[in-house]
Amino acid sequence: MLLIKSGTLITAEKSFEANILVEGEKITQVGENLDVSGAEVIDASGKLVMPGGVDPHTHFDLEMFDTVSSDDHYTGHKAAAFGGTTTVMDFVPQPADGPLEAGVELWHEKADAKAAIDFGFHMNITRLDKKTAAEIPRLLDMGIPTLKVFMAYNGRLRLQDGEIFKVLQLAKQHGMLTMLHAENGDIIDILVSEALSAGHTSAVWHARTRPSWGAVDAVLRGAALAAQADAPLYIVHMNTAGGVDQLRYARERGAQVMGETCPQYLFFTQEHLRSSDGAKWICSPPMRSGQDNASLWQALSQDELQVVGTDHCPFFFDGTQPIEYEGQEVSIPGKELGSEDFTKIPNGLPAVGDRLPIMWTFGVGAGHLTENQFVALTSTNPAKIFGLYPRKGALQVGSDADIVIWDPKIKLTYGVDHSHQRTDYNLFEGWELKGFPEKVFLRGRLIVDGERWLGEAGMGQFLQRGVGGQVI
Ligand code: URP
Ligand code: ZN
Ligand code: ZN
Repeated sequence: MLLIKSGTLITAEKSFEANILVEGEKITQVGENLDVSGAEVIDASGKLVMPGGVDPHTHFDLEMFDTVSSDDHYTGHKAAAFGGTTTVMDFVPQPADGPLEAGVELWHEKADAKAAIDFGFHMNITRLDKKTAAEIPRLLDMGIPTLKVFMAYNGRLRLQDGEIFKVLQLAKQHGMLTMLHAENGDIIDILVSEALSAGHTSAVWHARTRPSWGAVDAVLRGAALAAQADAPLYIVHMNTAGGVDQLRYARERGAQVMGETCPQYLFFTQEHLRSSDGAKWICSPPMRSGQDNASLWQALSQDELQVVGTDHCPFFFDGTQPIEYEGQEVSIPGKELGSEDFTKIPNGLPAVGDRLPIMWTFGVGAGHLTENQFVALTSTNPAKIFGLYPRKGALQVGSDADIVIWDPKIKLTYGVDHSHQRTDYNLFEGWELKGFPEKVFLRGRLIVDGERWLGEAGMGQFLQRGVGGQVI
């Protein structure tokens, strides 16, 4: 038994003084003046107590171009935990041939023995033939009620609009949720080929060839398809002011559309890609403008976006130079693969451990978010949308004891050393933070204690999710 005493509990709804009693893996009491003899007592006075973060958007151990994302399902989970996140959801690629089930099995092979925090899967639907359509409902038996579709990556991952409409219909029929990558693949292909023909090979051309108008168009198209199918839709990694406008337009008219953004879209712009290390910021969709950053912040403040995830998909900046990770030298080919051609730079960046500390200092600390909005956006809302609430994302009797004790007074200069992400850079290097997780519990077990890692591979559980996700 564990008694967390004298802290201020922060939930999505309210902040209040209370004690929490944990028995085994669950929260069994929440109340004032709990005094339980025999319990190990953690004194949280002066600290904040929050539900563990839920990051619904990661890509661990994902093959891309001639390499693989540099965090696997152990190192990525560990980094998540150090940043206060105790649940992650990763995307399973649809096998090039073979059933969806084979993709799920492969992801279990990659993840199960390595998992250090709890995890779920989404399924990418990147080919919609009759067989795939028949297999989609069977994903529910595998605990996967969420499907991701793409309007970009022509010839690789993209579905046509009619196919996306069909997925939305199927998802609705079976109580599933569709997730959308909203960019315009046709515009991108034309601009990329024009840029290469003109000899433009540097990193900034990644952003210049993936314009925001294409993303705005794609958000509205996705919302319109969802409205027409009367199906819920979750738009991942939203990144433009215009996209937020389209989301608002659709929601005001009753469409069941929700939006996620990620820290990178709140702070960085296309200008970052112009520097000599611009490849560090390459991901898809790309960084946009300061006006887009500001609009996304406003949408978070006004509850017009529902989730801050990460799209964590890290690569080394220079994968020829090893870093030390848990006493071993590790190097994994990374962004240098595209030093002569921006189309060969692996797309993605590290963020899973950064999300909570960065959003706390620059969201709550800077006055964009209340502490309750912070918990809603990073934990409770994703738990609700993805069918995990109130097991996750809550500090309620019966919830898993995934608990973060947050020290709001800690000041530190953040960077690659704090984040524990297995890569050689951090986008927030040198940023001054105030507030950081001090202790992190996963189902009642202390896994992070200051700088000490107490978690281990294999202790994370696969979250068999059902159809109970909410539209919020
Ligand atoms: O660049 C990114 N975001 N890589 C991951 C794949 C995706 O589209 O989310
Ligand atoms: Zn995507
Ligand atoms: Zn992604």
